[in-house]
Amino acid sequence: MTHTEVKQHPSLYLEVCCQNEKTRLPLHTSIALFLLSYCDCKSFRVFLVFTKPASSQSLKRQIPESLDVSDIQLKDLPHLVRGCRLPAVLDETGMLCRAGLAVVLRHIINKTLEADPSRNDVLALLGFKKTCLKACAEVSKWTRLCEIGIPSAVEEHLRNSADQYQQLPLSILTLERRLAEPVKVHNDDKIRRQKLQEQRRNEKKSSPADSESEPGLSAQVSEGLELRTALAKLSVDSVPASTTRENSEIRKVKTTDLPPLEHVFAEGLYFTLTDVVLLPCIYEYLCSLQAHAAKTLHQLPHLLRWYSRVQEVPGVLKAAEACGMSLSVPQVPTSGLQVSSAEDEPTSLLEEEEEGQEMTTEPPFVGGPRPTMTKLKENGIEAVFTPHPCPDWTLPWDSLPGAINPTEGKMSNIRAVRKRQQLNNLVATVTELARPGYTVVDFCSGTGHVGIVLAHTLPDCQVILIENKEESLVRAQSRSAELSLKNIGFIQANLDYFTGPFHIGVALHACGVATDMVMEHCIQAGAAFVISPCCYGFIQNAIKFTFPKSKRFQETLAYKEHMILCRFADQTAVQLPPERRLIGKQCMGLVDLDRSWAAETHGYSVQVMTMEPESCSPKNNMLVGRPAQRNGLGVDS
Ligand SMILES: C[S@@+](CC[C@H](N)C(=O)[O-])C[C@H]1O[C@@H](n2cnc3c(N)ncnc32)[C@H](O)[C@@H]1O
Repeated sequence: MTHTEVKQHPSLYLEVCCQNEKTRLPLHTSIALFLLSYCDCKSFRVFLVFTKPASSQSLKRQIPESLDVSDIQLKDLPHLVRGCRLPAVLDETGMLCRAGLAVVLRHIINKTLEADPSRNDVLALLGFKKTCLKACAEVSKWTRLCEIGIPSAVEEHLRNSADQYQQLPLSILTLERRLAEPVKVHNDDKIRRQKLQEQRRNEKKSSPADSESEPGLSAQVSEGLELRTALAKLSVDSVPASTTRENSEIRKVKTTDLPPLEHVFAEGLYFTLTDVVLLPCIYEYLCSLQAHAAKTLHQLPHLLRWYSRVQEVPGVLKAAEACGMSLSVPQVPTSGLQVSSAEDEPTSLLEEEEEGQEMTTEPPFVGGPRPTMTKLKENGIEAVFTPHPCPDWTLPWDSLPGAINPTEGKMSNIRAVRKRQQLNNLVATVTELARPGYTVVDFCSGTGHVGIVLAHTLPDCQVILIENKEESLVRAQSRSAELSLKNIGFIQANLDYFTGPFHIGVALHACGVATDMVMEHCIQAGAAFVISPCCYGFIQNAIKFTFPKSKRFQETLAYKEHMILCRFADQTAVQLPPERRLIGKQCMGLVDLDRSWAAETHGYSVQVMTMEPESCSPKNNMLVGRPAQRNGLGVDS
């Protein structure tokens, strides 16, 4: 990997798009700028990336003056950044790139805190346990909605607004519905008791006649409690909303009888990163509705309430103004806001979403996998394992530098031995496929066990490690620095945001559908693959692929039957009785057979084999895919 010159600050690359000959900022760029402005973060050199010769002059109003911003052409991006979707950050070493909206935003927050650890308001954006938008979109519905669903729905609306006023986008409706749900937060029992106490005190104060004339008063008071609690968290000294002790009567009330808490912000009570992501999107969307279809606003009472509350958060208005957003609460024509009922909502859209959810939240399965396996057998489908071509091949572990050995952290000796055995299998196969000048990508690299060995053993190849979890990748980077590896690069991102060319994709224990995402990337790049899957039980239909994947399996099994195979494929742990494990292994073989047949329709020849020794892992399958000569291994790097 070529080193770019060492810079003082990491570089943040934000996309500028061109629509109808006009330059504009896509939402993910506006979101990043808004966060930088809210955090008053000056830790980055910001580059606006243009696809055509143009300048940021016309966009000046939307770019906070406090930032150090330059223009750059797409073709001039550093190599590692060019292989990723924007936004992206390249660190000072030029070897670690962070890409994708959620990862980059979380990094901006961390950098702000690094520069000023006293910023509790910024720390709070990461949410309880600091996990806000941390999980990948394919496993977290919430990340999917905020990182992808809402921004793309609003982009789509802005592109084709003329046709889109009649129907509210599905993801906007999902958010509206979510904001209407009661909130569950850590510690909510205490806040709900305070709410009850305030409600009772209020009921006592108002005479029956009064309460008849003002039926909403109690609700208003309690709603104030939620907002006060939320805003108190943002104040410098974070005082609790109320310090009044509950009386004993209130303490005795059962949790189930306590009043529910209402949403204040998107995730519940507290202002978090998701509110930051949503604000520029909802701003654009509401401006458009206000201008062209103001009556539609009636259908979004909770969203409008959220929108006005966000504006009460200290610093939000100022940050928005610096990004050219003049926030205000839209005027709803005629009778004012109503709380919509299920009947008011466009049912066809909600039903559609319900179906989508059904696919991902299946009821637990009853019964075993035998009927499914028998059905497959009757149709001539059985798990087939290709014999291992080099069962005894091993790396010279004793003579390799210490930092290559998977012994770091809390790994026990037994686990380290098994990890080395797994690595022998993958490295042997990649070494056989690799040629000088190839780019090899270690997808879902974790702390870099596979990628680091490959970079060391294949010095004529470039190796890129891709991993979503920051802590793991930073650990990989420091192991690589210990070894002074030069032919290596690191990308912290959901692997979906990697778009660069490569020749061989490798993945050791990529969880659930991450294995299918890796295969899809390899097929699109015409690259060979060496993959050992895991977490079969997490497999489920995703936006991009549905199961079963191959035609023959589809003709034989329904989705639910295939899911039975996946669930039982996870039953291979050593503690289980041997007969259960045997069935588990057969199910693993069948799920991977389906995957391999699907890849073969793209011209690949695929072998499913068992890693050696079999005991190296309960998830010991390895899929080796070679692309057809015409489209394979000819990627320009
Ligand atoms: C079981 S670990 C395996 C790590 C490493 N390959 C090893 O064998 O030590 C799976 C890793 O995949 C990462 N991961 C899962 N889905 C991902 C995705 N969509 N993009 C990037 N990383 C992902 C997880 O964060 C986790 O570190």
